[in-house]
Amino acid sequence: MAAQRVGDGLFLTFEGGDGSGKSTQAVLLEEWLRSRGRTVVRTREPGGTDVGNEIREIVLHRRGHIAPRAEALLYAADRAHHISTVVRPALERGEIVLQDRYLDSSVAYQGVGRELEAGEIRDLSLWAAEGLLPDVTVLLDLDVAIGRGRLDESRTRFDRLEAEAAEFHGRVREAYLALAAAEPERFLVLDATRPVDDIAAAVRSRVSELLA
Ligand code: TYD
Repeated sequence: MAAQRVGDGLFLTFEGGDGSGKSTQAVLLEEWLRSRGRTVVRTREPGGTDVGNEIREIVLHRRGHIAPRAEALLYAADRAHHISTVVRPALERGEIVLQDRYLDSSVAYQGVGRELEAGEIRDLSLWAAEGLLPDVTVLLDLDVAIGRGRLDESRTRFDRLEAEAAEFHGRVREAYLALAAAEPERFLVLDATRPVDDIAAAVRSRVSELLA
């Protein structure tokens, strides 16, 4: 399915392993864009809508086994509703959407982590989102052990994916890097161990190019 642009808006997504600092960077970028007079919608998947938050509870916090294909479909259902009711309308209004996780998360976690077929998972997501691809995807690349250490310091409750073994997260990281290598125009890959302000400056520089 071909990628498509919607309205005059910009669609930026943040990807990376748990503990890579995606939300911190999204907040900093939002502040900078607002200071320049832009209207920003900051959102996330799973979640981002009322329906999505219910799906989020099931897919992240429900106890017991969920079959991998069911898990993939739940993320896709969340995505379909979120893109249709929140993201597309904002892009059509010419706004900037900053989103924590999108289809690359599904390809990395469900496609490669859960060993479903990566291409099929991508197609499922594109079907759910009617072909919408981000203008830029910031990948915060981080060694699995470092990400885990950051989470252990800040968390008491681990979600279903966070509870997976280091080997799973190692495959997720490799999957992300392969996705970035396959689409170098869309991805901005940054070393997540760099100082927060350096990363923020690199993100702003890429976004400035797009806004120019
Ligand atoms: P996130 O909201 O980034 O977690 P947190 O707020 O706990 O940092 O993401 C929650 C989890 O959802 C994360 O472990 C990865 C997983 N996930 C998938 O497996 N597939 C997907 O398509 C998405 C969007 C997230």
